[in-house]
Amino acid sequence: MALYKTFSYSVEVQYKSRLLSKATLFTVTTTILTVILPFIVAYRGRGFWLKSSYFYEQPLVHSTYDYLLIAETDDPSVNIICGDAAALEEEVIDEENCVEIQIQEDDINEDGKNDILKFKYNIIVPKNRFISSIILILGIDFQIKNVCPLQMQSLAVITKEFSGLPSGYKYYGNLEIYQNQQLPCLRNILDISHNSSLFYHEGDNSKNIVDFILEEYLGRDVTTIANPMFSRTQNGQTGTMELSITLRISEMEFRYTPSIIQELKWAWPQYLSLLFIFHWLFERIRKFVFRNRLLMAWEIIPWRKRD
Ligand SMILES: *[C@@H]1O[C@H](CO)[C@@H](O)[C@H](O)[C@H]1NC(C)=O
Repeated sequence: MALYKTFSYSVEVQYKSRLLSKATLFTVTTTILTVILPFIVAYRGRGFWLKSSYFYEQPLVHSTYDYLLIAETDDPSVNIICGDAAALEEEVIDEENCVEIQIQEDDINEDGKNDILKFKYNIIVPKNRFISSIILILGIDFQIKNVCPLQMQSLAVITKEFSGLPSGYKYYGNLEIYQNQQLPCLRNILDISHNSSLFYHEGDNSKNIVDFILEEYLGRDVTTIANPMFSRTQNGQTGTMELSITLRISEMEFRYTPSIIQELKWAWPQYLSLLFIFHWLFERIRKFVFRNRLLMAWEIIPWRKRD
């Protein structure tokens, strides 16, 4: 009749030696190696310590109603400047040529966040002139709430040069996030370091206002950009120009610096799984060394003691 193992226990064989001996030194060294080697291997393997992480979130986006629209005509002395920005002095604005402005915010899936922003501008084109290029700067209020709370005043900039005689321009694009640096990400602390409007600037009249705004904006670590998907120009000499801008807002990827807890949560399993292997390996080596009496130590075997 075959026998099956129903129960077992291990017998402990002890090896004893003095504090200052080769055997003690060997044990201490292998113990240190067991602890340190997994760390070195994990670290050399890269990705042990996260330098950045990312999350996805659909931001809460509103128009700030600030805008600046500059349309250049074929005559360099005739430019149409429209705007509702404090940076513009009253006398610069062409009240008579900027007629109609419509801003519409749509929350299609009704989750409390705007999914589409629509802007419509109508310009009256001076007689016998046509528009050769436009630059439109739109003010955006941008917020994220979940992982790294942030509120900032950003821009969507749309530029277009025309070759024919345009009477309309339709633009469809995405609002996207562009980061030079990862978000510092302090949980539960709203980051408002970029929450100042770029349209309010004082003094410095030496500089062109558009250049000023764009340079200031480019210096930021986090910006939003309008990324075109499709656009269409309508031609015809109608005496007006209609601009229609549709910006879609979807989930965006944000890079940020992870917290220490998150780093540990990531690093600990990597360390532990390697520690397991090294522990097993060094146990084998120790067993081999002591069993074969390669180092001087007293062997204490339980059943021999009883004799
Ligand atoms: C950020 O700026 C906007 C516009 O200036 C302002 O309405 C809002 O209160 C600011 N947010 C914070 C938290 O200060």
